[in-house]
Amino acid sequence: MARFTRENLALAEEIIGRYPRPRSATIPLLHLAQQQDGYVTEDAMRQIAELVGSTPAEVIGTSSFYEMLKPHPVGRYLVNGCTDIACMLVGGQELLEHAEATLGITAGSTTEDGAFTLEDVECIAACTEGPCLQANYRYFTNLTTEDLDSLLDDLRAGRLADEVPDHGTVARIRQHIPADRAAGPSLPEGGTEPAWMATDAERERS
Ligand code: FES
Repeated sequence: MARFTRENLALAEEIIGRYPRPRSATIPLLHLAQQQDGYVTEDAMRQIAELVGSTPAEVIGTSSFYEMLKPHPVGRYLVNGCTDIACMLVGGQELLEHAEATLGITAGSTTEDGAFTLEDVECIAACTEGPCLQANYRYFTNLTTEDLDSLLDDLRAGRLADEVPDHGTVARIRQHIPADRAAGPSLPEGGTEPAWMATDAERERS
């Protein structure tokens, strides 16, 4: 169960500084935690709560709303095979079963070497290009079983490392926003706090 490394803690603090309120950084910090460990650990969620001034329950509640934020370990490559209707009609189910046989796992599990997690997913919005799947959310379309075997081989051998970074990688070139460009409260003349930033208690007081 990992907390942020020293470097990522510094980055987390920089990210928090970009927002008028620390809590607004919750989702970017969840992505940072997933990039660090491949999934969002419980310790990371606790630490994010400390950093943004909320509770672990609130961070878990936010994280668990989003399918792409994983609360458990996943493989280096997350393979999402679509078996929804358009893909099913052109062999999506057979493709998924082929992936299960090739990887030696059932959908919803991870290979012993930690290389692949296979998931059976609903429509991924490439219905005219089925059967299709995503590997770490990169699309591979119009696949035959031979294409799938080549894809899994290439991923395992790292031949697609430029195209398909490890699971959790959000950006390989991180944006650095100078302090004078960071989001901050920009009040209208004479204002004390923009309405959209005020808490209920503050609004009642005003
Ligand atoms: S049904 Fe497979 S992408 Fe839409």
